[in-house]
Amino acid sequence: MQIREFGVERWMYLYEDKCALNLAETCVESLTVGELLRIAGKEDTFLDEILPMKLTYGVIDGTERLRSNVASLYEKQRAANVLITHGAISANALVYETLIEPGDHVISVLPTYQQHYSIPESYGARVDILRLREENAFLPDLDELEQMVTPATRMIVINNPNNPTGSLMDRALLEQIVQIARSCGAYVLCDEVYRGSDQHGSGFTASLADLYEKGISTGSMSKTWSLAGLRVGWIVAPAEVVHRVQIHRDYNTISVGMLNDLLASIALESRNAILARNHAILRTNLALLDAWIADEPRLSYVKPKSGTTAWVRLDTGMKSWDFCVAVLENTGVMFVPGSAMDSEGYARIGYANNRDVLVAGLAKASDFLSRMKG
Ligand SMILES: Cc1ncc(COP(=O)(O)O)c(C=O)c1O
Repeated sequence: MQIREFGVERWMYLYEDKCALNLAETCVESLTVGELLRIAGKEDTFLDEILPMKLTYGVIDGTERLRSNVASLYEKQRAANVLITHGAISANALVYETLIEPGDHVISVLPTYQQHYSIPESYGARVDILRLREENAFLPDLDELEQMVTPATRMIVINNPNNPTGSLMDRALLEQIVQIARSCGAYVLCDEVYRGSDQHGSGFTASLADLYEKGISTGSMSKTWSLAGLRVGWIVAPAEVVHRVQIHRDYNTISVGMLNDLLASIALESRNAILARNHAILRTNLALLDAWIADEPRLSYVKPKSGTTAWVRLDTGMKSWDFCVAVLENTGVMFVPGSAMDSEGYARIGYANNRDVLVAGLAKASDFLSRMKG
């Protein structure tokens, strides 16, 4: 099966180990095992808890405890609607593998995580792109979406909060998308891996799975929960879809690691403390980035409302890839070029990692920008 190279992952692979100041990261600064156990009050008891564990495959779909913890992040979901996967990347891949046939019509937003259009394309689906434009604050144009759907539309794919733009669709907008999907019977897959990272309030906006009988939401422990190393994600979907995905999942997953399943539960059972830490990082760091952008004449952006990344328009006279390589080689600072996400003219800055790294990286990038001619 032919598939395009995954642009952003390729960029990371090429440069992640070579940079000094990584502003390409998308996780809220990752937790150590020690930090997690301290937050959960389990430093003294955890070893006793795991030493007697026999390392079998564990519970195939994910433990009831973990699936219930995940379900409690939603308004209407139960453990039976949750399937545990190897990160959101496998959650998304499994949904496509299960539901997309050659010739199906799929509509995906762009920019977004490339999985969402390249995998359906590789399965022989006809993929139409719904461009998220700066003049619409990177929200989908619903008139355009309405024009795009046909009775053959199998799936509409959205990403909320959006990577890379940090745009956020509220409940009312999601409900309008549901109405359009319902009019043609399409599934809606909403990649919600950044859910919980809003700049305001509780951090959580409505989930698509709670709004639509054919709604599928994917999520994970990686971004909002700072635990990418667990490689734990999930699919939340109607029972019919869960059952169909299970059949595919048996062929490529079996189960996630027992220790990972346990640590994910421990984290979700300490959610308030983790969210307090992470919302403080997200909100403080975005304020820093915002002040920096305001002082950089060659850069501008639509301020993110959620997520961990900002999508910065470049007025540098260079292709985004060349600009990001030049910044990296001259300063050690790593951004992501827009072209690695099929969108020229922008760069993605991850602002949710360590604050000192962000401050140092932005200062070095400023030096570089001020030395640019023209
Ligand atoms: C929108 C989106 N979906 C899915 C993923 C994959 O995340 P995970 O670590 O849960 O596999 C990413 C990672 O960057 C992402 O940005």
